[in-house]
Amino acid sequence: MIEEAAKLLARSRFAIAFTGAGISAESRVPTFRGSNGLWKTHRPEELATPEAFRRDPHLVWSFYKWRMELIGKARPNPAHYALAELERMGILKAVITQNVDDLHREAGTKNLIELHGNIFRVRCTSCDYKENLKESGRLEEFLKEKDLPKCPECGSLLRPDVVWFGEPLPRKALEEAFRLAERADLVLVIGTSGVVYPAAYIPQIVKETGGKVIEVNPEESGITPIADVFLRCPAGEAMEKLMERIEGLVR
Ligand code: OAD
Ligand code: ZN
Repeated sequence: MIEEAAKLLARSRFAIAFTGAGISAESRVPTFRGSNGLWKTHRPEELATPEAFRRDPHLVWSFYKWRMELIGKARPNPAHYALAELERMGILKAVITQNVDDLHREAGTKNLIELHGNIFRVRCTSCDYKENLKESGRLEEFLKEKDLPKCPECGSLLRPDVVWFGEPLPRKALEEAFRLAERADLVLVIGTSGVVYPAAYIPQIVKETGGKVIEVNPEESGITPIADVFLRCPAGEAMEKLMERIEGLVR
């Protein structure tokens, strides 16, 4: 199976990756679904919708600050590094992620499309103000503040720059993702349940336009029925093995 996946990747002309929470599980970032998933103990309708934020911004902000802190301590794992390396090798053209954790960027991926936003970015609920707290160096100070965060430009409430349930995805990112999927002759799908739309269309588009689908996941997912190769394995282990084979093939 690994051999087959390595051959397909090495032979591909325009490969892309599509990732979800599972690729960061080995970096100790909790996933959403599955046995230890966040949505088992937390109700998304109370924490991750615009209505919830209007009703109780303190509760929503406490949840996001907790995640910011946890994710702020997380480091990329071998699977994130493997994707960055595949890009450097010229094999992978882009990583399209549903994750907000910034770990692909930390690992060195350059062409990164974030469909659901970024947890380290905040934006104003009234004006155009946006800030990346990691880049501005204000993350620690921001996490310590007990009051609700306010816009330095206009004083309105700030919100996390992530996509909540019921909200549209950032238009440019989604268009770029669809464009890449139409062009791709292979998609490497790693660690997603493949049940959240429109993101889950990405591998389907690749398949429908004649491309191959390689999936890495320790469990079956919504993508498994269309996978040409299914590596039933945690992301780090699968990607380490895959990289060994590919390096042998392209050398
Ligand atoms: P999910 O939590 O739905 O799915 C995580 C997937 O990762 C599951 O299929 C697991 O089997 C798999 N997995 C677990 N450990 C793994 C490992 N070590 N290696 C590889 N795979 C592993 O996460 P997503 O599919 O990303 O949306 O969820 C999609 C969206 O739903 C998220 O972006 C978020 C969520 O609600 C928004 O916030 C808008
Ligand atoms: Zn503002």
